[in-house]
Amino acid sequence: MEVSKRKRREEEPEMASNSVSNQAQAQIKVAAICGSLRRASRNSGLIHCAIEICKESIPGMKIDFIDIEPLPFVNVDLEKNGTYPPVVEAFRQKILEADCILFASPEYNYSVSAPLKNAIDWASRPPNVWADKAAAIVSAAGGSGGQRSQYHIRQIGVFLDLHFINKPVHCS
Ligand SMILES: Cc1cc2nc3c(=O)[nH]c(=O)nc-3n(C[C@H](O)[C@H](O)[C@H](O)COP(=O)(O)O)c2cc1C
Repeated sequence: MEVSKRKRREEEPEMASNSVSNQAQAQIKVAAICGSLRRASRNSGLIHCAIEICKESIPGMKIDFIDIEPLPFVNVDLEKNGTYPPVVEAFRQKILEADCILFASPEYNYSVSAPLKNAIDWASRPPNVWADKAAAIVSAAGGSGGQRSQYHIRQIGVFLDLHFINKPVHCS
């Protein structure tokens, strides 16, 4: 065998194992947002369950809980020369860095809760940091299970160029 070919064959197994370990390291980053600010929120419970399930059984995916409580109410007067208040910038950066979004949404009066809509609106300001990301919704609400809030999140998200997974999950 030519020296160059033999050298390549000797190197191949190492290259193959490198590519497997690279795949194992590659992480899909999920930003999880809860529409309820309640301390004992069932929706934040859904996110924490998802985080645990992911740790146990989905290597290559990491879910981070993104707290929306510190965000001020949307007000374009807070925008200065295309920049946002530091807490808003930090939130937008976390959305930007995520590959996909998990919304956990209560239903408030047949729709999305105000804190969640506020967070969605901040991240929609230019440049829209939701654009072209995959998204999923889970919900815990009253008798409806949150179906109507899920439907409204989809309507808002389609306008913002999010790509939603079909087959909604909800529980009541
Ligand atoms: C202001 C308000 C409005 C609500 N409206 C609805 C509603 O329209 N439909 C529904 O199924 N539940 C409704 N609920 C109940 C909540 O969705 C339910 O308590 C849910 O568990 C709250 O989520 P959390 O446990 O994550 O805080 C409402 C609750 C509040 C506080």
